[in-house]
Amino acid sequence: MARRPILAANWKMQKTVPEALAFAADFLPRVKDAQADVVLAPPATALHALGQALAGSNVALAAQNVNPEAKGAFTGEISPDMLVDVGCGYGIVGHSERRTLYGETDEFVAAKAAALFARDIVPIVCVGESLEQREAGQTLSFVGGQIAGSLARIPSERAAEVVVAYEPIWAIGTGKTATPEMAQEVHAAIRGRLGELFGADGEAIRIQYGGSVKPENVVELMAQADIDGALVGGASLEPESFAAIALFDR
Ligand code: 13P
Repeated sequence: MARRPILAANWKMQKTVPEALAFAADFLPRVKDAQADVVLAPPATALHALGQALAGSNVALAAQNVNPEAKGAFTGEISPDMLVDVGCGYGIVGHSERRTLYGETDEFVAAKAAALFARDIVPIVCVGESLEQREAGQTLSFVGGQIAGSLARIPSERAAEVVVAYEPIWAIGTGKTATPEMAQEVHAAIRGRLGELFGADGEAIRIQYGGSVKPENVVELMAQADIDGALVGGASLEPESFAAIALFDR
C-alpha cells in the first residue's frame, strides 16, 4: 500500500518565538513543493505565532504534548481545545523523554491520543526500547506492548489516521542511528501488531522512525518497506537541514 510520507520536526525545548518565526520564513519557500506531509512541533510558547506563520502553507503545526482533560485545575497543562485554538493538526504523545523523565505510562499516553482524536488532532504516538531492553532481546515484545497499550483507546474507525513513531531510546540525540535493517525489523513487527489490533487499517497507518535522522541517512531509512516517515530532533533545528529531510525524495 502506498502511504504518504510524513516528516516531522520535534524541536523539544528549543527556539523562542522570534527564532521559530525566522525558521518558518527561511523554511517554507524551500519545501513548498514537498510531496510529503511536513510538520513542525515547536515548544508550546511558539505554537500560536508559528501557527499563524504556517497558515495557508503546506506545512502543519504539531504540539509536543497535551493533557487529556478538557479543562480544570491542572496547573501548567494544555488541553486539546487549546491546541485546536492555535491551529495544531498533530500532537506528539508518549515521547520517550516524557515517559522516562515525567513518568508517563501507556495508559496516560492512550488517554492523550484519544483526547486528541476527539478534537480532530492526529496523534503521533511514540514508542521505543532502551539499550538495556535491546541488549536483553526484549525489543519486539516491549515495543509491541507499548503499541497495544498506547493505542488502546484509539477509535477503531479512525485507526488508519494515527501516526506511530518508533524511536529507539539509545538512538535519540546520540548520533547512533539504528541501521535501516534494524529499524525495518521493528517497523515490520509494529506493522504486524497494528494488523492484529486494527485489521486491514494497520496497513494504512504511517510509522515514522526517529533517532539521529539526518539528511545523510534519511534516504536509506525511507527506502525500507515499513518506514513511512521520520520524527527528527537535532537535524530539524536548521531550515536547510530539515528541508533536505523533507525533500528526501529529490
Ligand atoms: P534526534 O533526532 O535529536 O536524535 O531526536 C529524535 C527525537 O527524539 C525526535 O522526537
